[in-house]
Amino acid sequence: MKRIRGAFSHLERPLRAVPGVERRLEAEYAAVLRELEPMLKPYRDLPGFSRLPSEGQPPDQVLQQLRALAEREEARWRDGYASGAVYHGGPEHIEFLNRVYALFSQANPLHPDLWPSVARFEAEIVAMTAGMLGADAAGEEITGTVTSCGTESILLAMKAYRDWARETRGITQPEVVLPVTAHAAFEKAAQLFGLRLVYVPVDSGYRADVSAMARSITRRTVVLVASAPSFPHGIIDPIPEIAQLARAHGIGCHVDACLGGFILPWAERLGYPVPPFDFRVPGVTSISVDPHKYGYAPKGVSVILYRGARLRRYQYFAATDWPGGLYATPTLLGSRPGGLIAAAWAAMVTMGEQGYLQAARAILETGARIKEGIRGIPELEVLGDPLWVIAFTSKTIDIYRVLEQMGRRGWSLNALQHPPALHLAVTLRHAQPGVADRFLRDLGESVAWVRAHPEERGELAPVYGLAATLPFRGVVRDLLYRYLDLLYTV
Ligand SMILES: Cc1ncc(COP(=O)(O)O)c(C=O)c1O
Repeated sequence: MKRIRGAFSHLERPLRAVPGVERRLEAEYAAVLRELEPMLKPYRDLPGFSRLPSEGQPPDQVLQQLRALAEREEARWRDGYASGAVYHGGPEHIEFLNRVYALFSQANPLHPDLWPSVARFEAEIVAMTAGMLGADAAGEEITGTVTSCGTESILLAMKAYRDWARETRGITQPEVVLPVTAHAAFEKAAQLFGLRLVYVPVDSGYRADVSAMARSITRRTVVLVASAPSFPHGIIDPIPEIAQLARAHGIGCHVDACLGGFILPWAERLGYPVPPFDFRVPGVTSISVDPHKYGYAPKGVSVILYRGARLRRYQYFAATDWPGGLYATPTLLGSRPGGLIAAAWAAMVTMGEQGYLQAARAILETGARIKEGIRGIPELEVLGDPLWVIAFTSKTIDIYRVLEQMGRRGWSLNALQHPPALHLAVTLRHAQPGVADRFLRDLGESVAWVRAHPEERGELAPVYGLAATLPFRGVVRDLLYRYLDLLYTV
């Protein structure tokens, strides 16, 4: 598996300079967006606000409107039709988190004098997360900060390695070696912080190719990246080998456990085959991990952890001469939502080890059933041997048409590329009685429908197909930017 790259990209610019081509492309983009619009903008016929109302609306009326929208949208995620997205979703859990949020909705950890409680919650979230990920056996202090999302945790780690390498090694053109399956957030970090990414392929089991990693290390390499597990295929990279390589070169090894950090420790206790991935592995120098996924916190809370206190310093920011006063922040954001931090803390202490263990058990058992069920559908093939994030493809039918058919049955699955595939990230929503059976039944019916209608092209399936294979990635990027524009049209 390779990222599409190279072969035709040099032709993109000259081709797009041909008169009429850009106009033709605009027409194509518009056609695609017209297909997406009904899904993304279903409320155009409802009254909304593109300007401030001159008089404030009565709160009861606003609440009524919001309630109507929330109720309309709730059923799909509540009833387990979504991949990932809502990881707990139990009504009592949500009600509890909302009550905690309400207590601290005005709090901002930028003012620790006003809300020392929130500073304490943050320190404890970091300590509890580190403890779960092998801190006691690390042989060194594990430090970290709370951030707003997995992406921010990854951005901060990459910035920390860049600045560490510049200061201690004089590396001015830093490189990061990572498998093609590592999360897109690393690409974002590269764009933001001027890092060069050196991608390595994955093997037939979708695990990072360690010898390719070894060959890719240069004097400019600052960190090796591994996933536990990867977003696309839910596969854990060979972390002990990668960490050993990093150690031998005196560089960092970042483990992205955004998806697995709150499942794998419990999966291991339950006897699932979990290779070592956390701070018990010598050479693992940082871990990103998300309370707002399988930690069952509300959205907006992640953690970045480091081996030792030194690396963490390189993510900090301090302004010493600003007329606004002395100013220092630990992460990318300035003001931050104390309410979310309090709610994440409350989620962790109410779940406790036993709560996480039981939740992991339910998710892993459901994952195993779904994996076996997919393996029982002859047209489909599970990619690698995942535990609960299950990707599947087909050699005989167009998998993106299966995606479309699943969409017609209410499902919101993730579409993958290189190779074309879909995935379901199993959550507690899917562990509810009947949901796994419904998924497998709908999947079987969708596959049968696609097989029985080979003449149909589908609506979005050809777009996914084209976007996955088009060698002109600039065209795909333009389309994605227009999609983002569309989200912001009122
Ligand atoms: C492995 C992995 N890393 C990073 C992220 C990014 O997390 P976020 O969406 O919270 O920024 C995700 C999100 O699904 C992920 O699965």
